[in-house]
Amino acid sequence: MSAIPASSDPNARAASASPSAVPAGLSVLVSEGWADYALLDSGGGEKLERYGRFTVVRPEPQAMWAKRLDASVWEAADAVFTGAQDDEGPGRWRTTRAVPETWKMRYDAATFHGRLTNFRHLGVFPEQRAHWDWMAERVKASGRSDFKVLNLFGYTGVASLVLAAAGAAVTHVDASKKAIGWARDNQALSGLEDRPIRWICEDAAKFVAREARRGNVYDGVLLDPPKFGRGPKGETWQVFESLPPLLDDLRKIVSDQAGFVVLTAYAIRASALAAHGLMAQTFDGLGGEIESGDLAILQEGGGRLLPTSLFSRWSR
Ligand SMILES: C[S@@+](CC[C@H](N)C(=O)[O-])C[C@H]1O[C@@H](n2cnc3c(N)ncnc32)[C@H](O)[C@@H]1O
Repeated sequence: MSAIPASSDPNARAASASPSAVPAGLSVLVSEGWADYALLDSGGGEKLERYGRFTVVRPEPQAMWAKRLDASVWEAADAVFTGAQDDEGPGRWRTTRAVPETWKMRYDAATFHGRLTNFRHLGVFPEQRAHWDWMAERVKASGRSDFKVLNLFGYTGVASLVLAAAGAAVTHVDASKKAIGWARDNQALSGLEDRPIRWICEDAAKFVAREARRGNVYDGVLLDPPKFGRGPKGETWQVFESLPPLLDDLRKIVSDQAGFVVLTAYAIRASALAAHGLMAQTFDGLGGEIESGDLAILQEGGGRLLPTSLFSRWSR
């Protein structure tokens, strides 16, 4: 897999060249399960997963194929999410046995709470594992003790904890006071209280614009915006309108030694090509490479990938 140099505009090249000039940096990034997470099966518009010691069923429109496991295995799940089919609608969980409000899960140096939330999330996005590993490797490889990472839309902070444990000074930004509280709890649960993590409850776009005005810079950035969101003061986030200006400001806060910017986007009607084009424009002239494509989870037993989101990452 080779990546396109950030300085060439893939759209311009594609326009003039043959179809084979599709950006070479398109790929599928695969996250595998681990001791505390597994995609056990998928199909019929649903997915069966294990989060720690609990198995859960959630809607998954993209799983258009047939289930592999016997119906009895699905019926034995501890919790089933019943709610809107689309990716972000609220709903509720039907449990078949007592599921505690929270239970411990672990990945690398991070220990965090699993929980059933009204928006079908479970306190962690396991498909992000491929990014966690990739970024942690780069923090460690830098050999620096002052590697600064910005985690925008950071939710419960698993990425922030993995990167802090890898040696980074992390700034974690999320608009939700509740999510920031969960993230702080996860820091204590992980015994990483001594690590430099700033927990900031703020609108991501506002935070980045202010950092740009102040001339503050970061060596690594990850952002995982929702399709639609609200800042703590009601600021509106609409990914198609809000992402381009946010990336423009983000370019102003990447340091000269910056190593990466990782973008993930869920549930939006967009192709990785669109994210690739936007990232190529944003980092034009800064050298480096851009890889874009699908982020997918490998189903247990192998041979089946469940796509979860698109990604685009710039590295240098
Ligand atoms: C999909 S989740 C991010 C998941 C996270 N990357 C992870 O792997 O755990 C999106 C997050 O964006 C936050 N959010 C929504 N609108 C926001 C805004 N305007 N500014 C900052 N955070 C926002 C939500 O509170 C939510 O925690």
